[in-house]
Formats: sequence, structure tokens, C-alpha cells
Amino acid sequence: MSIQKSAETNVGVLVILTIVVISFGLLVEIVPLFFMKSLTEPIDGLKPRTALEQAGRDVYTREGCYVCHSQMIRPFRAETERYGHYSLASEFVYDHPFQWGSKRTGPDLHRVGGRYSDEWHRIHMINPRDVVPESVMPGYPWLDTTPADASDISERLATLRMLGVPYTDEDIKNAPKQLEGKTELDALIAYMQSLGTTIPAVR
Ligand code: HEC
Repeated sequence: MSIQKSAETNVGVLVILTIVVISFGLLVEIVPLFFMKSLTEPIDGLKPRTALEQAGRDVYTREGCYVCHSQMIRPFRAETERYGHYSLASEFVYDHPFQWGSKRTGPDLHRVGGRYSDEWHRIHMINPRDVVPESVMPGYPWLDTTPADASDISERLATLRMLGVPYTDEDIKNAPKQLEGKTELDALIAYMQSLGTTIPAVR
């Protein structure tokens, strides 16, 4: 009996052959990625986030901003003309977890850093319709009155260090001080202003 015949008549053989083919495909596609420096090493000039930016990122994750916003500019002209340089893997090396998102109800945010003033963000986050009348984005007014959570920021930075982000002992020790007197909105704005700024945006 030929291999084809037995695969078509015996489901056990079909399953084994399928597994062999998929495993080979994975080896060829995935294994080389682990050895490509441009994918695994930080881009020149990439800095660990400040404690304030990291606290803002935690707010971003908690509020589920990634449900409506991606942080991943694809290498297509329509995207680079609108958002700036396409995203590089080496820009995300310190991100745990990634906030790439998969749906764009709002615009991509990977290079939003520096695009607007802090004051614009403040008004926009409290009530988006005050600056973009047709906006369907929800307002987040409570962030402006909630103090940034400094209680475990040092532990959070220490955990990120364990995952490979090069924080110094000093960074970790001084983290709570950076959040003193800051609101969650201050932190979120600091985070947004830092986004995608390692490569100067081409606009
Ligand atoms: C229900 C979907 C939705 C959610 C959730 C959402 N947004 Fe938006 N966002 C939008 C839409 C739509 C726009 C475009 C209109 C506008 O500027 O308000 C937008 C615009 C923005 C902009 C301006 C981007 C630009 O380049 O003009 C920023 C910054 C932003 N959102 C941040 C956030 C943050 C931070 C959160 C989470 C706290 C969030 N968004 C949650 C839908 C959403």
C-alpha cells in the first residue's frame, strides 16, 4: 500500500504524518527567529521606562485601552504616512506584556509620543469630545483624581528586571518617590508621551 493510500484510509497514519509536517514547518519558521539579533536585542537608545511611565502603562493595561488601540505600525505606505516609521521588534524588547493589540477602533498609538501636548491629552482623556467632537472613545475622568499607586511600584520594576529590563538598584529604590503627588492620569500621559520615541517619528 502506498503512503498516500494508508494516510487516506488509516486515521492514525494521517495524524502522525500531519504532526511531522507541522513540526517541520514550525522548526523552519520559528527557530531562526531566536537567533536574529534584530528581533531579540533592544534597538540603540532604548531606555527602560521611568517609574511614572511604567505606572501609566499599568493603567493602560488595566483600563483595556488595547481593546480599541493597537501599538503596531505595519510596513505599508498608508500606515507609515499616517503614523510614522513602522514598528520594529527591537523597540518592544523591554515590554512585558506587549500591548500590540489586534483591533483599531481608534488610531494606532505606537508613535503617539510627542504628537500632542500633555494638556491636550489631559482634556482628551477626561472627555474626548472636548477636543474631537465626533469621538466614540469613552472618557476616563476618574484617572485625574486617583493618586498613582506607589505601594508596589518597586516590586513591579524588580519583576521587570528579572525579565531582562536593565533597571538599577537606584531606579527600583527611587520608584515610589517618582509617583509622589502624581495622579493616574499624570502617569498615563507620561507613558503615552514616551511611546515610540526611540525612533524619531517621520511625519
Ligand atoms: C471604545 C474604544 C476606545 C477605547 C476603549 C479607548 N479609545 Fe482611545 N480612541 C478611540 C477612538 C475612536 C479615537 C479617535 C477619536 C479621538 O481622538 O478621540 C481614540 C483616540 C485616542 C488618542 C488620540 C490618538 C491620535 O493619534 O489622535 C489617544 C492618545 C487615545 N485614544 C488613548 C486612549 C487610552 C490611553 C485609552 C485607555 C485609557 C483609550 N484610548 C481607550 C477609541 C477608544
